[in-house]
Amino acid sequence: MNGSVVESVESIVERHGFHEHALIAVLQDIQRTRNWLPPEALDAVMRLLDVPRSRVYAIATFYKAFSLKPRGKHVLQCCVGTACHVRGAQQIIDRLGRELGIGPGETTPDMMFTLERVRCVGCCSIAPVVRVGDAMYGRLTQIKAGNLPKKFREPAARD
Ligand code: FES
Repeated sequence: MNGSVVESVESIVERHGFHEHALIAVLQDIQRTRNWLPPEALDAVMRLLDVPRSRVYAIATFYKAFSLKPRGKHVLQCCVGTACHVRGAQQIIDRLGRELGIGPGETTPDMMFTLERVRCVGCCSIAPVVRVGDAMYGRLTQIKAGNLPKKFREPAARD
């Protein structure tokens, strides 16, 4: 497992170049492929780019796009901006939490889903909204929210 993490980091670094200037691009690619930044991957980045640990962790913790905790294959980002809040975002989060058996900031044991609260995702007209990857699910009700994980568990059931 660790060997494959290091090998994949090596191939990412080869694409971007063995230089500190490539640090953010390399971290973005690791985040994209693994959905988080595993410690062994960060160790490999330090070694391959010859960047101090403090610099790598400063970047990895500064940008919200990076996660130092394992995240599920599908990250359900529940908007809690003002428009979504007044249209029941908390009930949507609660419904998803019950469906998945986790709370905000947590990941299901099978690593399929992570539930997160996020600020306005720019689709206020269809509040309340949940973003999953590039897709936005709007005008959610508790019933629709409860059915959302099924779309990702059972691809054939998509509408
Ligand atoms: S407040 Fe939720 S999309 Fe803007």
